[in-house]
Amino acid sequence: MANVLVLHGPNLNLLGKREPDVYGIATLDELNRRLIELGTKLDLDVTCYQSNMEGDLINHLHFASEKFDYIILNPGAYTHYSYAIRDAIASIDIPVIEVHLSNIHAREAFRTTSVTAPVSQGQIVGFGLMSYELALISIQQKLNEATDV
Ligand code: DQA
Repeated sequence: MANVLVLHGPNLNLLGKREPDVYGIATLDELNRRLIELGTKLDLDVTCYQSNMEGDLINHLHFASEKFDYIILNPGAYTHYSYAIRDAIASIDIPVIEVHLSNIHAREAFRTTSVTAPVSQGQIVGFGLMSYELALISIQQKLNEATDV
């Protein structure tokens, strides 16, 4: 069974209360529960962690290789300007999939830039909670392709 770390960045602890018209009404706990459940169906062991601190997210990226095969990362607003998180992603061997609940390309101009996407395996945006679920499904597909050859 592959191990997946889901890393949620700043302010995502407020999901459900925070700008529900943009981010929906589901809480972070509900999102995490859905991801763990889907993971079980897909034969993926999912661990979720949220932090409001850049350095803490960076430490989790660094230490992820000890236990995890894949990372799903929503860097929150750090997406748009954190070269430190970008460098951390570039420094590790585990593939990182960037996800966003909202469509960052259809919002304020500053959100259309992602400094982390170019060093990530891909970016999934705009599908609400499903952005994370699509990332999990893509991991399972990749793993299946790898075992088919
Ligand atoms: C977000 C988009 C970011 O621009 C914002 O700062 C967030 C949430 C999203 O999931 O849509 O905190 O990452």
